[in-house]
Amino acid sequence: MEEESVSERVRVLISEEEIEKRICEMGKEISEFYQGEPVHLVSVLKGGVFFTCELAKRLSIPVSIDFMSVSSYGDGTKSSGVVKVVKDLDEAIEGKHVLVVEDIVDSGRTLSYLLDNLKSRKPQSLRLCTLLDKPERRVTDVQVDYTGFEIPDKFVVGYGLDYMQHYRNLPYIGVVELDA
Ligand code: IMP
Ligand code: MG
Repeated sequence: MEEESVSERVRVLISEEEIEKRICEMGKEISEFYQGEPVHLVSVLKGGVFFTCELAKRLSIPVSIDFMSVSSYGDGTKSSGVVKVVKDLDEAIEGKHVLVVEDIVDSGRTLSYLLDNLKSRKPQSLRLCTLLDKPERRVTDVQVDYTGFEIPDKFVVGYGLDYMQHYRNLPYIGVVELDA
């Protein structure tokens, strides 16, 4: 039997230069907001890691970093809103200025769960920073404090974001196009 070949192409949506410039601006804005106070970054695995590293390098305030991994049950393409903690934080966050760093806010379900979960641990403050936001797709209200780029309702990859675990390492944000 002949195999049907399906290839994918990735079209650049946001270039590496644009992302770096924007992260620089965000780093400045965030550093100014915390006024020298230490900030504890909670990076959301796996997608948030690339953005977290770049952002951390642009912060001029004392920084500590921890990681959390959550998975949402769904039918594969849509999250159901039922979220499970796969890897919890290593350290307590009580009394700390916590900044959650995420790759993308889509329906908002994962973040809404995560923020409620973290809030119950009594941080001194809790804010959310995301590289990308797809506001059109929002189902659950989430307060986003810092957004890199608002993007249209397109499936994107790169800079930590994957398509079936591929493309996380692309240094830009791209849109996957399938040609049969
Ligand atoms: P939601 O906001 O709970 O719907 O889920 C957000 C999560 O879905 C993100 O953390 C990503 O892991 C994933 N996601 C949403 N949109 C995209 C996309 O365009 N490309 C890759 N992953 C996405
Ligand atoms: Mg994610």
